[in-house]
Amino acid sequence: VSAPRSEVPRPPEPWPGAAPGEPAAEPTALAELADALAEQPPRIPSKYLYDERGSALFDRICDLPEYYPTRSELAIMEQHAAEMARALGPDATVVEYGTGTGRKTRLLLAALDRPCAYVPVDVAAEFLSAASARLAAEFPAVAVVPVWADFTRPFLLPPDVPRGRRRVAYFPGSTIGNFEPDEARALLAEMRDRVGPGGAALVGVDLRKDPRVLEAAYDDAAGVTARFNLNVLAHVNRRFGLAFDPSRFRHRAPWVDRAGRIEMRLVSTVRHEVDVAGRRYRFEPGDYILTEYSHKYRLTEFAALAQTAGWRTRRTWTDAEARFSVHLLET
Ligand SMILES: C[S@@+](CC[C@H](N)C(=O)[O-])C[C@H]1O[C@@H](n2cnc3c(N)ncnc32)[C@H](O)[C@@H]1O
Repeated sequence: VSAPRSEVPRPPEPWPGAAPGEPAAEPTALAELADALAEQPPRIPSKYLYDERGSALFDRICDLPEYYPTRSELAIMEQHAAEMARALGPDATVVEYGTGTGRKTRLLLAALDRPCAYVPVDVAAEFLSAASARLAAEFPAVAVVPVWADFTRPFLLPPDVPRGRRRVAYFPGSTIGNFEPDEARALLAEMRDRVGPGGAALVGVDLRKDPRVLEAAYDDAAGVTARFNLNVLAHVNRRFGLAFDPSRFRHRAPWVDRAGRIEMRLVSTVRHEVDVAGRRYRFEPGDYILTEYSHKYRLTEFAALAQTAGWRTRRTWTDAEARFSVHLLET
């Protein structure tokens, strides 16, 4: 007896906005990785945390007792999505940067007055397709148009995306915190150009707090975040044919006060070398690779940053414990 067919419609084919996985894009991507590893300290861009396994691990992180950001942001959305929707108005086209599983998106789309289109943008192709299919099934009146792209590089939206009355960039999850302030400013400015005059943005921003709370959130007792971090090595190995040995690194996530951020690090436990794109990288015990920043802001700091990117902060919401914030920005 064959299993009943799933009622979930086929996921819309993602539009390859910048085709991150296309062979033509690989030499650039490999050169970018080699340059990042040559920095002091060496870096692996955080987008490589999100292959299929990494995305699944991140989804588990969202449910960990120590990882408050998801619960706090969901609480804000549950309590205030109706106000956000009133401020945004009817017939909006929502472009989401870094959708993941779209947990918060459902709350926004449900609150909005007749949203016209939803455009999730993500590098993680499998999760993008699955989230798009779920949201398309849940919101049949909304045109769901996924875009598979790296939003740190120029990318295109498909020409047939309905414009709606207003374009809204949605950027939850404090993913903005993964960028240095200059990069965050550039990304906010790119969003402003993308939504155009009269457009808006809703940005989830994690707030400064007790470093013990922060460090626990990025180094949980069950070790899920450690697996998530180490998985970046398996991902770049597979993608670029490299030979990083994950067993030679340990996960660490200290709060770095002068930079106002958590730094996810992979600390080498032994002296060893790894070749990348014809260059040799040496690691001594204690040397580390930076895999992700997670900047934490004060409300006023973020408003000032948004202002330098050409945005006006119209409203800000926080959760009851003032751990997390959502900012409504207007052009
Ligand atoms: C911190 S998670 C947030 C997921 C979700 N928005 C949430 O709030 O739970 C970051 C998401 O952004 C995506 N992402 C990270 N860097 C990206 C990039 N450069 N371009 C496109 N997507 C990216 C990841 O695949 C992941 O889905």
